[in-house]
Amino acid sequence: MPHIAYVDGAYLPLAQAAVHIEDRGFQFADGVYEVIAVRSGRLIDEAPHLARLARSLGELRIRPPRGEAALKIVLRETTRRNRIERGSVYVQVTRGTAPRDHAFPASPEPTLVVTARRARPPDPRFVEEGVAVVTAADIRWRRCDIKSVSLLPNVLGKQEAREAGAFEAWQVDAAGRVTEGTSSNAWIVAADGAIVTHPANHAILNGVTRLALIDIIRREGCRLDERAFTIAEVKAAREAFLTSTTADVLPVVRIDGVPVANGHPGLLTQKLRAAYLAHVAAGDA
Ligand code: PDD
Repeated sequence: MPHIAYVDGAYLPLAQAAVHIEDRGFQFADGVYEVIAVRSGRLIDEAPHLARLARSLGELRIRPPRGEAALKIVLRETTRRNRIERGSVYVQVTRGTAPRDHAFPASPEPTLVVTARRARPPDPRFVEEGVAVVTAADIRWRRCDIKSVSLLPNVLGKQEAREAGAFEAWQVDAAGRVTEGTSSNAWIVAADGAIVTHPANHAILNGVTRLALIDIIRREGCRLDERAFTIAEVKAAREAFLTSTTADVLPVVRIDGVPVANGHPGLLTQKLRAAYLAHVAAGDA
């Protein structure tokens, strides 16, 4: 069965799906995206993903390509046509196609692309043994809250991680504080027992998984500190973990080759992971 992509009104086999070479996504990375998990054929936390998409578009003054109801139909139809039970749906919206000129074109028609792909559950070893992260300088722009397709620093950071045999790179700002991973949010359980993650300001993407986990943490009555933390704090932490749509909640057990605590996944991380998976299984957005 060929993979089917939706491009501006048509469902096409992937090999035939294309956008114009003067699409501003291609020329300027002038576009935004979302990745939504699919479990048992259902889109998980669709509402907050679509809310973040609308916000990203608004911040960049890109016109929404469809009303929300119509977009939801496209997401479902793309999932269905690709027969995805477990995987993800990718949505990309760009400012559209126009002769190359940096400033906005006069009346651009936004481009909408939707694809869907299958994914296996994370490697059980990642869950049981935890993953390693390395640190990398955060060389991104100052609007990381916008889920822009301009991902070059993230690409370079992830490649650094890959070459170091690590799962993720935790980006560190000029003041030595961890902002977030290249495609995930970063967390520690600090020496004082508080669960700590960077505040949702312009320095990070406010992850939908992050938000779901914050709800869980509050419900469980755990202490949450939304503040930046340093690499030294990670090394002194009781536990560390990362969150994203595709990775769920994964224990982090090494940073730059140094074990976090005893080098094994923490109990609180495992508890939060289980609670997050229950949230996903319940399908509550
Ligand atoms: N990445 N931070 C960054 C920079 C990200 O790219 C992502 C998601 C996250 C976590 O956000 P969420 O919990 O909403 O997935 C944090 C997606 C999965 C990606 O680029 O593939």
